[in-house]
Amino acid sequence: MLKDKVAIVTGASKGIGFEIAKEFAARGATVIVCSRSMADAEKSAGLIKGKVYPEQLDVTSQPAVAKFMRHMLERHRRIDILINNAGYPFDRKMWFKKFHEVTEEEVDRVINVDLKGTFRLSRAAIPLMLKGGGVIISISSTPAISGHTEGAPYSIAKAGIIAMTKHIALEYGNIRAYTLALGNISSEATFNSMTPAEKKKAAAENSMRRWGYPKEVASVAASLADDSFSFATGNTIVIDGGAVLL
Ligand SMILES: NC(=O)c1ccc[n+]([C@@H]2O[C@H](COP(=O)([O-])OP(=O)(O)OC[C@H]3O[C@@H](n4cnc5c(N)ncnc54)[C@H](OP(=O)(O)O)[C@@H]3O)[C@@H](O)[C@H]2O)c1
Repeated sequence: MLKDKVAIVTGASKGIGFEIAKEFAARGATVIVCSRSMADAEKSAGLIKGKVYPEQLDVTSQPAVAKFMRHMLERHRRIDILINNAGYPFDRKMWFKKFHEVTEEEVDRVINVDLKGTFRLSRAAIPLMLKGGGVIISISSTPAISGHTEGAPYSIAKAGIIAMTKHIALEYGNIRAYTLALGNISSEATFNSMTPAEKKKAAAENSMRRWGYPKEVASVAASLADDSFSFATGNTIVIDGGAVLL
């Protein structure tokens, strides 16, 4: 159970972040549902039963992250769990470029959300966790481990998250840190934007021959955040139906 825990979920207006927020609220946590749009955060929080608070947050702005964390401290007095889920939107044009065609500006854009966003939030949350401990779960992707033939900016940004998790885990014993390396998970951003042939090809990539559901990511995140994983930290947990095996 996550009763009495305060959890921040970035990018929680839809997709995987929304399911994580819902699962944490169902397990008793107080959940901060973040989106770049306050209207979207309110709409999504309104669909979740339990103790949920919508907040506006753009993870690419350092001043906004600092202001957000001050507000968290004033309003909730503590932060127990941080879920770094916000990710640069799936961009077909960028995704299908060969490595040598990718621009520096494109790499910067993805890094600014996925990697530096995770860095900004983690750095701001850690001081609030130092005394009472905490859990930081950051969302990465299997190409960060195995490499891929598409989406180089994304793999580069997501690979840095794995190293960041390990640093946090080793530097702070009372703050447990995990990376979730996801395979094909059917969110609006991925499944709903693909052609039937692309969906079929992606499903065939793993041994279960299917897409994963956001709920299957959310239940792993919730188990990591409670005491079930009390003696494990720094881990990369692959959730991909059996394709990339560590
Ligand atoms: N679905 C998959 O197959 C898959 C596979 C591997 C990894 N992942 C990762 O899982 C996470 C969630 O993916 P998803 O499929 O659920 O995609 P999604 O629906 O596009 O969700 C991404 C979220 O990130 C938020 N976001 C984007 N830019 C932001 C910014 N600058 N500041 C704050 N929030 C920002 C968006 O929220 P707002 O628009 O409301 O601000 C959105 O809710 C991402 O990190 C993604 O890379 C997904």
